[in-house]
Amino acid sequence: MELASSKSPKGKISPDGNILLSPAIRALFVQCIALLLSYLLYNLDKEFFAISLSPYLILVAHSLFAVLISIMLRLKWWWWLIEFIFPYAVVASLVYQLSPGYSLLIFVLMVLLFWSTYRTQVPYFPSKSSLLPCILEQMPTMPGLRFIDVGSGFGGLSLNLSRARPEQHFYGVEIAPFPWLASWIRARFSSGSAEFFLGNYLTLDFAGFDLIFAYLSPAAMPALWEKAQAEMKKGALLMSYEFPIPGIEADLQIKSSANDPVLYVWRI
Ligand SMILES: C[S@@+](CC[C@H](N)C(=O)[O-])C[C@H]1O[C@@H](n2cnc3c(N)ncnc32)[C@H](O)[C@@H]1O
Repeated sequence: MELASSKSPKGKISPDGNILLSPAIRALFVQCIALLLSYLLYNLDKEFFAISLSPYLILVAHSLFAVLISIMLRLKWWWWLIEFIFPYAVVASLVYQLSPGYSLLIFVLMVLLFWSTYRTQVPYFPSKSSLLPCILEQMPTMPGLRFIDVGSGFGGLSLNLSRARPEQHFYGVEIAPFPWLASWIRARFSSGSAEFFLGNYLTLDFAGFDLIFAYLSPAAMPALWEKAQAEMKKGALLMSYEFPIPGIEADLQIKSSANDPVLYVWRI
């Protein structure tokens, strides 16, 4: 079976459309500036104070500069953490002389897992299993219903739903090759009947589905809503786990427990 492509123009992946403003590029910029500042510090202390700071203190200074600049650039808190840890990881790999083969392997795995996260601003993280009963409770029971998880990761959600509702059709579309391949293999060897496609959900025609589920990121929500409004059938359901659509009140908000994220539901 094939999924129809969208007839509407392909949506912008990045909300501002400018790749140079993406957090990943800004994060790289932060490291470059922090490196420059720590280099200046290293040379200044020798020139003016006739002392020499230990390279480990310079490393700590680099990390702190990187965090400070990240805060000033209003990067999200997890970038502060990444910026802080990154210089130590680089130094550790040099000190322990990690084989370049390991670094390459880790890099390739990261690329296959996170693929175009730098553009989509939607990294991989799985939804909780407590989400399943919340979706089932709201999903119409009509036979033949077509459900799709846009950004299906390793495919667990669609597979679990397909076991609970064998008379309905479950799909997943995923942009990153490694999770997509894992979901494709799981679908062949597990009892569920979901199908998984490698691709960008922005090129899909949403009109072919009765329920569209998304677990993406705040950055992706405005474009998702625009596309859902333009293409989804009247009466179809759009669900988003954890992330609301700014300025669009959900018809329903469900939480399975106090610590779980909200499942937002809109009827188109
Ligand atoms: C937060 S994970 C959610 C995984 C899964 N839906 C779940 O509930 O466990 C989001 C996934 O969306 C994928 N993704 C991001 N942008 C995408 C796009 N434009 N098209 C298809 N997949 C995308 C990411 O690669 C990532 O695997």
